[in-house]
Amino acid sequence: MARVSKKTARGRATPKLAKVGPGELLTLLDFVRYGVSRFVEAKLAFAHGTTDPVAEAAFLVCEALHLHPDQFEAFAHARVTAAEGKTILDLLRRRVTTRKPAAYLVNKIYMRGLPFYVDERVIVPRSFIGELLESHFGVDGEAGSLIDDPTSVERVLDLCTGSGCLAVLAAHHFPNAEVDAVDISKGAIEVATRNVGEYRLDDRISLYRGDLFAPLGDNKYDLIITNPPYVDAEGMAALPPECRAEPKLAFDGGADGLDVVRRILRDAPDHLTPDGGLICEIGRGRGLVDEAFPELPLLWLDTEDSEGEVFWISAADLG
Ligand SMILES: C[S@@+](CC[C@H](N)C(=O)[O-])C[C@H]1O[C@@H](n2cnc3c(N)ncnc32)[C@H](O)[C@@H]1O
Repeated sequence: MARVSKKTARGRATPKLAKVGPGELLTLLDFVRYGVSRFVEAKLAFAHGTTDPVAEAAFLVCEALHLHPDQFEAFAHARVTAAEGKTILDLLRRRVTTRKPAAYLVNKIYMRGLPFYVDERVIVPRSFIGELLESHFGVDGEAGSLIDDPTSVERVLDLCTGSGCLAVLAAHHFPNAEVDAVDISKGAIEVATRNVGEYRLDDRISLYRGDLFAPLGDNKYDLIITNPPYVDAEGMAALPPECRAEPKLAFDGGADGLDVVRRILRDAPDHLTPDGGLICEIGRGRGLVDEAFPELPLLWLDTEDSEGEVFWISAADLG
């Protein structure tokens, strides 16, 4: 049973993980099982690329062994060396004792199967927009495409880009597009610069530091994608420790969560081409948005893990 040791600065007790004897854990699966037990015991929150303790433990085990998460099953029953086991246990322990998102511990997160560098300067990417680009903006998408001809998309804007993950996914998804990406945070632009460089997209993605549309002049876009801060005051007060390790600026949407969303909806029409449109993530605030903008025919989009947390509106409907 885990013992409880010293108090943290916040007054929370830091759990101490029980020692694992030599040979008690052998395979990748053994380490995942051990991690799951410790994570559940410590009541961790899972909202950063994984949504349950099994996926979280498997992610950390794979990272320690330099495996892509998709390779877990192939090696689940393989044994790890003593040195590898030590590395895994250290990561599992740090996940419990620091309550930091797993992605910060390994400086990596996968979105749509692609790796991105992350650290505490940016929120850990988990936007549903990556999935929606594939399901609703492809030529062969099941739901058809919300844009007449995705291959003709020439200019995309990623507002509030953070790590730059959505800008990179958009550049891959719209092969003929130039992508502009904006964030107000210096640290976020530094991380995004690194990710854009790692994907060798410097010639197609331009990063701007500034307040929403301010650095963009009169530029117009066929598609604006944005995952802005949208957490309301009540939600901010209730963030789990994992989210408090992330930049406050990435969450804080003001009293009702809509401060930034309102400004985006107000100014987006000036930056959209006539056939363009805006895709915007707003979390669980759908009711509030519908109430605040009754005149807008917002189309709410679902993903595998979300219902109505992202809306689409065409330039024509935005007026
Ligand atoms: C929810 S995060 C989204 C990051 C990234 N797009 C993603 O999906 O992982 C919101 C981002 O908006 C940025 N931000 C907050 N206020 C902003 C503003 N007024 N103008 C531009 N960026 C802003 C924050 O720094 C943060 O990186």
